[in-house]
Amino acid sequence: MALHIAPSILAADFANLQKEVEMLNRSQADYIHVDIMDGVFVPNLSFGLPVTQAIHKHATKPLDVHLMIVEPEKYVEAFYKAGAAIISVHIEASTHLHRTLQQIRSYGIKAGVAVNPHTSVQQLENILNDLDLVCLMSVNPGFGGQKFIEKTYDKVKQLHAMRQQSKASFLIEIDGGVNVQNAPKLKEAGADVLVAGNFVFSANQPEKVIADLKSC
Ligand code: DX5
Ligand code: ZN
Repeated sequence: MALHIAPSILAADFANLQKEVEMLNRSQADYIHVDIMDGVFVPNLSFGLPVTQAIHKHATKPLDVHLMIVEPEKYVEAFYKAGAAIISVHIEASTHLHRTLQQIRSYGIKAGVAVNPHTSVQQLENILNDLDLVCLMSVNPGFGGQKFIEKTYDKVKQLHAMRQQSKASFLIEIDGGVNVQNAPKLKEAGADVLVAGNFVFSANQPEKVIADLKSC
């Protein structure tokens, strides 16, 4: 399978959001990654529901919403209504993760789990067939533009093996510090979807960068 690319709108020019979304519409991006931060689960604030709705209004690509918030189950319905096609909640923020995944799927959208760098992928073993996507964090969540954590390759390989063994069909997404240097190695390890923020939006030709990543 060709890599799927999910540019992170967090790195976009917020004063020109419509223009940025239209650029992503024209590009080979497969999803638009939407980073929601609450200042509690992560030490930063990003944006919330009205901005997500505004992105959705202009987007022709599905929204991949990454909730970096405590008690994510309280906001699943609201983000579904705001236009999410995928909602990922953090394993570290979810006491009743299985229930929350069912809740997400009950709206007919895809359910994802995001996993911090320190969290072992083994912790997912009892929910592998209840998932549509696992988002492996390759930086500590909270900020764009951080350095890729090399240990991620091992985690991708482990998760890929677990997927084969359990005959599950979730996508493996990598989030943080992705660029054209690490993308081929991530693909080889078993990644399906790459999130990229600064690498895309700080480029002079973001559409070309998206195409380059996709053809890794
Ligand atoms: C980090 C976010 C990432 C981030 C990726 O908390 O979850 O999605 O926007 O940005 P880059 O690619 O710049 O690391
Ligand atoms: Zn993210």
